[in-house]
Amino acid sequence: MILLVFLLLVTSGSSFAADIINIPLHPVKAPIESFRRVLDDPQLTPPNSTAPEVKLRFLKAEYNAYITIGTPGQVFNVIFDTGSADLWVPSVKCDEDNIACQTHNQYNASASKTYEAVGDPFRVNYPYGGVKGHLSRDTVTVAGIPIKDHVFAEVLEQSDVFQDTSADGILGMGFAHLSVDRKPTVFDKMVEQNLVPAPVFSFYFQSYREDKDESESVLTLGGTNPDHYTGNFTFVDLTRVRMSNGFGTFCKQGCPAIVDSGNTLIIGPFTETGDLNRRLGGIRVLGIPGMYRFHCSRLNRMPDLEFIINGTPLTLTSKEYTMEVDGTCLSAILGRRFGYRKPRYWILGTFFMRTYYTQFDRENFRIGFAKANHSSK
Ligand SMILES: *[C@@H]1O[C@H](CO)[C@@H](O)[C@H](O)[C@H]1NC(C)=O
Ligand SMILES: *[C@@H]1O[C@H](CO)[C@@H](O)[C@H](O)[C@H]1NC(C)=O
Ligand SMILES: *[C@@H]1O[C@H](CO)[C@@H](O)[C@H](O)[C@H]1NC(C)=O
Ligand SMILES: *[C@@H]1O[C@H](CO)[C@@H](O)[C@H](O)[C@H]1NC(C)=O
Repeated sequence: MILLVFLLLVTSGSSFAADIINIPLHPVKAPIESFRRVLDDPQLTPPNSTAPEVKLRFLKAEYNAYITIGTPGQVFNVIFDTGSADLWVPSVKCDEDNIACQTHNQYNASASKTYEAVGDPFRVNYPYGGVKGHLSRDTVTVAGIPIKDHVFAEVLEQSDVFQDTSADGILGMGFAHLSVDRKPTVFDKMVEQNLVPAPVFSFYFQSYREDKDESESVLTLGGTNPDHYTGNFTFVDLTRVRMSNGFGTFCKQGCPAIVDSGNTLIIGPFTETGDLNRRLGGIRVLGIPGMYRFHCSRLNRMPDLEFIINGTPLTLTSKEYTMEVDGTCLSAILGRRFGYRKPRYWILGTFFMRTYYTQFDRENFRIGFAKANHSSK
């Protein structure tokens, strides 16, 4: 048996993409000291390779990496998030009482020679909280490559939900029309300043295990890295929404979906994901709405899931859509309640992108999937 889910990949109007957040999956309370970044470990790779790469680390259920802002560089740990298009980091000007800000690295404009004031207000709301601040312009360095004159947000207020994130801020990699006010993204600027060989970037996600801090997950800026996938890419043209048809079990008419590196799980509407998880034999996890678990002994007998994207089936095996956490096998497919009259859509997070190496082709406005090659080393 194979269960089918028909998805349409669409880009949204700006409204719903800004709505997306990285759900902190396992908020861990830790002493404040442990949040302080190790400033002498920026993990910046040299800029000379043709397509520069950023090594992503998996910490507290998030993939993130170091960047610097300003001259000399101030280090920040950020999530490279295809579900949004703005870069923001906490500001040294934030309130002393704002714990989320105080427990993360803060940008100090006065300490940067390349800082320029912009000042326009910035605000973004996610379903689980928001941030507020103002815009500034400075050099942003990613993978050792300085990107000049980038407009980003210094954040002065953050919701408490950000207290528990390992990342200081978010670096939006979404296509620029997702940005709150259509500013160019960091990657747009890299393309504009000829810092990358092609307007394409790709994600390879390796392991979810926290203990594997030497994670091989990488973001390739300016191309794809053939070491990390096998076979050909299946492309989805984002400008053309085509209905899938067939006798699928779920989303027969097709459901809108986005590919979001800033989310870990595969998230969909509450009712549909509940049906799907129960059909797979899932049992509700008490206290976490929309979350299901399975008997680990059943995993081998559970069906594959096919996500049909514009007619192309992309399969996940039971091992690929579940995660084992302390002896419990949890479903990676989580239900979310969408607000009244809000667009309902699926989010293909890093659980999906781990099986399918994903390239974002900004020029042709399309996304390509190829089977990730995890057999290296
Ligand atoms: C990188 O390029 C610069 C100039 O383009 C050169 O001076 C430097 O040696 C190169 N570094 C490496 C590691 O190849
Ligand atoms: C910000 O940088 C300036 C200039 O280096 C320094 O005088 C000031 O103390 C810094 N502010 C904080 C809060 O660290
Ligand atoms: C990939 O595409 C090439 C050229 O279109 C084709 O010859 C080849 O068979 C394809 N490979 C796979 C694994 O589908
Ligand atoms: C997967 O990666 C390994 C190690 O880099 C390589 O030896 C192997 O040929 C790759 N497999 C495919 C099908 O490309």
